[in-house]
Amino acid sequence: MSHADNCILAQHCSLAGSDKCNALCSSYIAVHGYNGAGGRIAAASIPADYQKATLQNSPARGDQAAAYKVIDAYVNTFQRQFSEESERIKSLYLYSESPGTGKTTSAAAILNEYIVRHFIGSVQRNRQALDRPGYFLDVNAWQELYTEFTRPHVPEDIAGPASREYYRQMQHARLAPFAVLDDIGVRAATDGFRGDLHSVINYRVTNGLPTVYTSNVAIGELAQVFDKRLADRVRDMCGVVEFKGGSKRGIRK
Ligand SMILES: Nc1ncnc2c1ncn2[C@@H]1O[C@H](COP(=O)(O)OP(=O)(O)OP(=O)(O)O)[C@@H](O)[C@H]1O
Ligand SMILES: [Mg+2]
Repeated sequence: MSHADNCILAQHCSLAGSDKCNALCSSYIAVHGYNGAGGRIAAASIPADYQKATLQNSPARGDQAAAYKVIDAYVNTFQRQFSEESERIKSLYLYSESPGTGKTTSAAAILNEYIVRHFIGSVQRNRQALDRPGYFLDVNAWQELYTEFTRPHVPEDIAGPASREYYRQMQHARLAPFAVLDDIGVRAATDGFRGDLHSVINYRVTNGLPTVYTSNVAIGELAQVFDKRLADRVRDMCGVVEFKGGSKRGIRK
């Protein structure tokens, strides 16, 4: 296997596959880190299974042709991040009724694309790329952390680390120029957790920061899962992309 297979910059790189294409390449280190640590992909906290997802290698591309037409056009708007005057980058809501249709894979691929374009665009403009241009928040895992430290009688040595990690993730999800909020609207949320999720979304929308949401709840029904105010915020400057068909989980391509 060529080293280029490990690098999401490969398709844009003139050195890909050459003898200069190796783990010591400064661009590779900037994106993927050195010796398994650091780099902008790790800073984005994309789950391991989805870290190498690209729009080209996504197994969903073939089956979800209509969705990928929209997504391909969408990522071309990422160049707007470098110009003050241009229109805002919109948000996207990736939705399917059925689980396992490729939403999270596609959201991670979109985030990776943002990171790649941010890194290359910054280098081309002689600017320092941000350390964390994008962030992936697994809303389920984040809710589990919330439950861990708000449960009654939970010992401090468990509650302390869980709450610190919870607020760390919340801060990154708020502030990142680009974010994925993966799996919003799945489980009954307490008022406290709902308030925090609302505050993340509200901050992003108010500051014009684009977000890719994934969900099994139709955007029109979000008001029933959360509340109307939050549902209205999600809909702000947001395109809906529907993923069709049943679960492809476990199918190898
Ligand atoms: N069209 C497809 N063909 C083959 N495999 C696919 C396809 N779409 C997704 N997969 C695979 O199915 C698994 C689930 O994909 P993913 O996590 O992106 O789905 P999801 O829509 O986010 O599911 P959920 O609604 O449960 O969160 C992954 O391993 C992915 O590679
Ligand atoms: Mg998912």
